[in-house]
Amino acid sequence: MRGLRIATIGGDGVGPEVIEATLPVLRAAAEASGVSVETVALDWGGEHMLRTGRAMPADGADVLSECDGVLFGAVGRPDIPDDELIWGLIIGLRQALDLAVNVRPVRSWDGVTTAVRTEEPIDFVVVRENTEGEYAGVGGRVGQLGIEVAVHSRTAIERTARYAFDLARQRRGRVSLVTKSNAMRYGYPLWDEVTASVHLDYPDVELEHVLVDAMAARMVQRPGGLDVLLCSNLFGDILSDLAAGLVGGMGMAPSANVLPGRGPGLFEPVHGSAPDIAGAGIANPVACLLSAALLLDHTGVEGAGDRIRSAVTTTLRDPATHTPDLGGTATTTDLSTSVLTNLQQPAGGAPSAPTEHLVSLPTSRR
Ligand code: NAI
Ligand code: MG
Repeated sequence: MRGLRIATIGGDGVGPEVIEATLPVLRAAAEASGVSVETVALDWGGEHMLRTGRAMPADGADVLSECDGVLFGAVGRPDIPDDELIWGLIIGLRQALDLAVNVRPVRSWDGVTTAVRTEEPIDFVVVRENTEGEYAGVGGRVGQLGIEVAVHSRTAIERTARYAFDLARQRRGRVSLVTKSNAMRYGYPLWDEVTASVHLDYPDVELEHVLVDAMAARMVQRPGGLDVLLCSNLFGDILSDLAAGLVGGMGMAPSANVLPGRGPGLFEPVHGSAPDIAGAGIANPVACLLSAALLLDHTGVEGAGDRIRSAVTTTLRDPATHTPDLGGTATTTDLSTSVLTNLQQPAGGAPSAPTEHLVSLPTSRR
């Protein structure tokens, strides 16, 4: 039997709760494809920082490199400055493992109310540059002056753009490049230029250029037509939270951090540690479950990611399984147990999820 070695980092707040709810589902989905899962639990995050002065050990990135994939919960606790933990762990790992691309699928689900009225289902993917842009960490502070320098390189733009075009090819063949090149005169024009040159290799994919403010409005008014959004680090961060808000909130938004073709990917719910509900057992595990599905897509476990998405689809159709963020009264465990049951005993008849709405990560170039 093929085996996968998965590192898990629960982190803080609801992070460990959603990871715990996800692991049995991840394991069952992989085993149904004939793949066993060994997990390596890492106690990194806020607690680790209070104990050792670091959010993770100095050789953290090397430890993860030994694994096939990483499933990450969330970090953030009220008694530690946010930037120390975010940089000490999540942004730090994205840079150390060179996780070039952040992929955030967004879709509406039967049974879950969307925040906007739309005829067509919402089904798009935010592809975000993940290592530089406005989060490059370049700048400084002089008294009351704060300087934050955005860094955009051809290399980083190109690899993100290629990923977006590859993904669009597997979907509906449309890439929307999101910039602000009317007001910012150096970095975003480079995005326009590099993306146009990559587009030459993908004549079958349609490319449009959209300014980020216009995209924010369009996402709310006409989200149905969107397919793949190609974004810088900052714009992708903001727009993907807006997107999550459209389809049921932060508890519904999964993400993948990958360097196509190399090394383990890091898969995580988009949400943070949600200190306001931590410990109450009511966090929505769907974002983490869908992140695990992306991990299985990326590691090439045939059918396993779709198995999780189908089971989530069946589960969400029943309002009795909804956690409070979706307007229900179910607990984290109620929801994940229902997903596990639906995964192990799929409903007969037609497949429970329309496959054209499912999003897989391209795995062909690994
Ligand atoms: P948050 O995502 O933790 O929470 C925002 C809102 O969404 C809260 O009302 C929360 O209850 C709700 N929410 C989040 N996840 C949920 C889930 N699974 N089920 C139900 N409701 C959920 O963002 P916030 O409050 O801005 O940040 C809290 C902490 O998390 C901060 O320390 C922040 O720095 C950190 N953070 C960490 C991230 C990461 O580890 N990747 C990402 C974002 C924030
Ligand atoms: Mg964010």
